[in-house]
Amino acid sequence: MSEGLRQMTREFRLSPENLIYPLFVTFGKGVKEEIGSMPGNYRWSVDKLAAEAKEIRALGIPAVILFGIPETKDEKGMSGCQPDGVVQNAIREIKNAAPELVVITDVCIDEYTTHGHCGIVGPNGKILNDESLEMLALMALSHAEAGADMVAPSDMMDGRVAVIRKALDTRGFSDIPIMAYAAKYASGFYGPFREACDSSPKFGNRATYQMDPPNAREALREVALDIQEGADIVMVKPALSYLDIIRDVRTRFDMPVAAYNVSGEYSMVMAAAEKGWIDGHRVMMEVLLSIHRAGADMILTYYAKQAAKDLNG
Ligand code: PBG
Repeated sequence: MSEGLRQMTREFRLSPENLIYPLFVTFGKGVKEEIGSMPGNYRWSVDKLAAEAKEIRALGIPAVILFGIPETKDEKGMSGCQPDGVVQNAIREIKNAAPELVVITDVCIDEYTTHGHCGIVGPNGKILNDESLEMLALMALSHAEAGADMVAPSDMMDGRVAVIRKALDTRGFSDIPIMAYAAKYASGFYGPFREACDSSPKFGNRATYQMDPPNAREALREVALDIQEGADIVMVKPALSYLDIIRDVRTRFDMPVAAYNVSGEYSMVMAAAEKGWIDGHRVMMEVLLSIHRAGADMILTYYAKQAAKDLNG
């Protein structure tokens, strides 16, 4: 078959417009520090973000999602809710440098807590769901106030979408949509991210609030709940080992679907490529296409910039 015929009969096309690029923002000045397990990805201080934001936008990538690495952590994650926190400052810097770049923020306290859990920890080591909601609403509000275009709760506490929606609406942010990490599995694939953010739980694990990998139907219940509570975009995470879930969500719901091609999925490919065992670029493009084919409209990926360069020809 000629290349022309192959092009005409192609069923799916990946475009930079499908991609969302995660950015790690840290404190200090002049910092651009490569994350060891995620080559090509960096921890940025706020002052370095303007040029990066312009470059991302120029590549045709419509959005970034921000993760914060704060200077101080406490039991409740207060440093994630301050008007001059790392993420809040980063939002202003990016919106200023590249106003068209959509700024999404990850809403979760794990990066800001000493214990590294996504919820407030009770005296007996249990995660307190309802107490955590208050912090999440505070954080989402502080992001909206700093100028975020969309908030993305990733904590998996029950009822958080409704609480965040209400908080945003009552404070005049009814136009800010919510991208819910709706089906988020307790996964081994988050390892490199936790290294990047130093957010590994200091005790226990996240199995009490993240989903059990064998469960597929439960994912649909979680997604339905988040939609009922007001989610505008629903996300499946991780992506590659959960393509069936992406497909199920796509088929069942008339909502924009996002999938998170998480840190471990990226690092695996990069590590094998470094060893010369696979063609890393080819495999990453195949991975991204598979996630798109499964039904994701949007893909959060650490490979966004390299992929966009290729797709732009
Ligand atoms: C929680 C959060 C995590 C990721 C995104 N948001 C970590 C976790 O749940 O342990 C992981 C993303 C990745 O691995 O790329 N704030």
